[in-house]
Amino acid sequence: MTSAAPSKIPFVDLHPQHEPLQGEFEQAFQGLLSRGDFVMGKAVEDFETAFATASGASYGVGVACGTDALALGLQACGLGPNTSVLLPTNTFVATLIGVLRTGATPILVDCDPETGLIDLDAAADTVREDTHALIAVHLYGQMVSPKALLAFSAAHDLMIFEDAAQAHLAQREGFRAGSVGIAAAFSFYPSKNLGALGDGGMVLTAQPEVSDRMRCLRNYGAPRKYFHTELGTNSRLDTIQASLLNIKLPHLEGWNRDRNRLAQHYDALLAEQLPQVRPLVNHSGDGHVYHLYVALLPQQIERKQLQADLEDRGVQSGVHYPLPCHLQPAFRDLGYSLGDFPHAERHSQSMISLPMYPGLGKQQVEKVVEALVDAIQEQASSGLDSRETGSLSNGLQLKAQL
Ligand SMILES: Cc1ncc(COP(=O)(O)O)c(C=O)c1O
Repeated sequence: MTSAAPSKIPFVDLHPQHEPLQGEFEQAFQGLLSRGDFVMGKAVEDFETAFATASGASYGVGVACGTDALALGLQACGLGPNTSVLLPTNTFVATLIGVLRTGATPILVDCDPETGLIDLDAAADTVREDTHALIAVHLYGQMVSPKALLAFSAAHDLMIFEDAAQAHLAQREGFRAGSVGIAAAFSFYPSKNLGALGDGGMVLTAQPEVSDRMRCLRNYGAPRKYFHTELGTNSRLDTIQASLLNIKLPHLEGWNRDRNRLAQHYDALLAEQLPQVRPLVNHSGDGHVYHLYVALLPQQIERKQLQADLEDRGVQSGVHYPLPCHLQPAFRDLGYSLGDFPHAERHSQSMISLPMYPGLGKQQVEKVVEALVDAIQEQASSGLDSRETGSLSNGLQLKAQL
């Protein structure tokens, strides 16, 4: 394994995390080879317990990926046909796929323009008779306010289910991600704050019934061998991935702290040098684990060109996400259209994600901001912004994509 060339700043680089652990990874692989417990071995049980404990939950049930954690977790909580579920349109599409896989009806909700998180006031307006749950997606590493979620749950008599795929060990108001709702789904996709060297996922819960049903659902619907009580599937956290995650977990808190410090450095530099670029607001202080560092660009900036200009300056960037769920062609049947969720639409058009990973140096953050200042100045002086091209206002850009 070799690190990326120092002059380039990749969007994500996992080498700084993995290089110091390589020897332990190799030992874990040797251990698995000699034990031979390739499926659901001791490492899975150990990791389920360790991750649940670290997150303030009672039970952890490992599955194959975060999408399965959502679909099976929601099913284990009783969601299915004849129920509806509130969820944000500003999320990775897996949140919506998870709901659809249960047979429940998704009700999409706009986001708060300052944080990008679900707008609970807007959610309150769309609760229906058959609404059984709200999915709080702790997006970009920041939790949706636990106090507000618990108040929402009580006021509308519905369950809170957390999509914590981007928020391992995030904290807010004294709660950890995964300890607020009836259950929570996590992903261990490699670039997550806690990532495997492949796919993986987990459901956390404080409820023994949810944990038991999850164990059954991930194991062909069988509570015990060759006895099947419902239609389940085969979705297990790989034993080798669990072994590697056990090695990485003790480092997670430190990695999250590094992310938070880097974000503070970005915040300060942007406020000083580029106040027109606005980072999403952090209401969680040190509890925000910055899976992604997201900022909103001024409306007139042509983002594609800006990203190309950054790349020319050796800086990779990302967009999370360029098209909200309600405008994805796969979900046209849900009946939503352009204009339904103006904040999420504007966010999808103006947001940019800057490099963020443990091991990124403070000087590299400075280089990213320097490149951003240069690229924005260049765009302003070349006249290549939406005022000049006249055709790139937010709504029109989205229309062009659809
Ligand atoms: C918010 C969110 N939910 C769900 C998922 C799905 O996880 P996975 O890719 O492990 O299926 C992801 C990750 O990709 C995610 O970011």
